[in-house]
Amino acid sequence: MARWDTLLANVHLATVSGTEPYGIVENAALAISAGRIAWLGPARDLPGSPQDLARRVLYLGGRWATPGLIDCHTHLVYGGNRAREFELMLKGVSYTEIFKAGGGIRSTMKATRAADEDELFATAAGRMKALLGEGVTTLEIKSGYGLDLDTELRMLRVARRLGRELPVQVVTTFLGAHACPPEHDGDKDGYIDFVTQSVLPRVVKEGLADAVDGFYDPLGFSAAQIDRLFAAAKDHGLPVKLHAEQFADLNGGALVARHRALSADHMEYVSPEGIAAMAGTGTVAVLLPGAFYFTHETQVPPVAAMRARGLPVAVATDSNPGSSPALSLVLMMNMACVLFRLTPDEALKGVTIQAARALGLAADRGTLEVGKRADIAVWDIGHPVELSYAIGANPCAGAIRGGDVVLDRGAFGAA
Ligand code: NIG
Ligand code: FE
Repeated sequence: MARWDTLLANVHLATVSGTEPYGIVENAALAISAGRIAWLGPARDLPGSPQDLARRVLYLGGRWATPGLIDCHTHLVYGGNRAREFELMLKGVSYTEIFKAGGGIRSTMKATRAADEDELFATAAGRMKALLGEGVTTLEIKSGYGLDLDTELRMLRVARRLGRELPVQVVTTFLGAHACPPEHDGDKDGYIDFVTQSVLPRVVKEGLADAVDGFYDPLGFSAAQIDRLFAAAKDHGLPVKLHAEQFADLNGGALVARHRALSADHMEYVSPEGIAAMAGTGTVAVLLPGAFYFTHETQVPPVAAMRARGLPVAVATDSNPGSSPALSLVLMMNMACVLFRLTPDEALKGVTIQAARALGLAADRGTLEVGKRADIAVWDIGHPVELSYAIGANPCAGAIRGGDVVLDRGAFGAA
């Protein structure tokens, strides 16, 4: 009797575990049973010949395998796009000015309110396929372009449906506190009341959200308003995360630390005090180089200080129509290295284990280790540094999710 369901052979592993960069095991094998990693190590340590050990042997032709990539911050579901605002930005009008003139998040709000569920599903699925083609096996999607009850619920239902119909696990986040809609102009407190008393309970009742997020910024909401939002999330047993320190230092580190948030995202302007407050709390700093690049930001997130304080650092696309129309997580790895000076090892951790941590899933995935989900990306590369090195390449040759092959570009050949 074969002891394993599947054995990956003739493969090099970047396990992203242990203390060595990339957690490399060369000339390796990896066994899968019941959708989880059952064994891994140097092939010479296998307790028999591959065919005797597993019902199915996949020969990877000397390719590299990493944990399936995790995009832990996206706004993938939305109506329309903001290409015309892009033209304005190139003429020198800032993201903030466009927002204040009634564009920005509000213009996507109008297009999203006008889009039905099938339209939102189809456009998001198209974008998602680009990410899945890079070995992304887990992906977070936020609401936040409805800003009314029906559209927030519709966005989250679409996100759930994407997870059911495409071969990826979707983690959903309720971002009702993304911006104040016209119905509540001049009354952000009233809007937060509406979000916490009318929308969040419905979201929870329908099981539509895995976490709650907000936009902590003068364009978004104040610390007192975020405190109220997070208190409501806690009452419903939901973890929280925050868009923080994107355009200014607002002491967001202390705010997220106080709430033991899963993550604080953007973080260009976080202060040394903010980093100190977050250190040791488990909160992950999620860096979004696409938004930094696209909004012509010049303030680089203080990566060296984060590193010095042992803050976990993740990297994500922030895929959205206004500040980061990005559909490549692999490109974000390169940008995180070049623009933010992450090491390529940190960039790989940033889209695997640290991204898993930012979603509260680190015990289940994010590394290649026995017991974790068999979510695996297979790459046509000679060394894992190449994932961060190339600009605009997609060396993904295949992907496995929960033990099933979900992407095959010729990765799984014969011996
Ligand atoms: O992560 N900063 C707020 N939210 C998004 C942008 C959303 C938008 O512009 O549509 C972000 O950058
Ligand atoms: Fe965002």
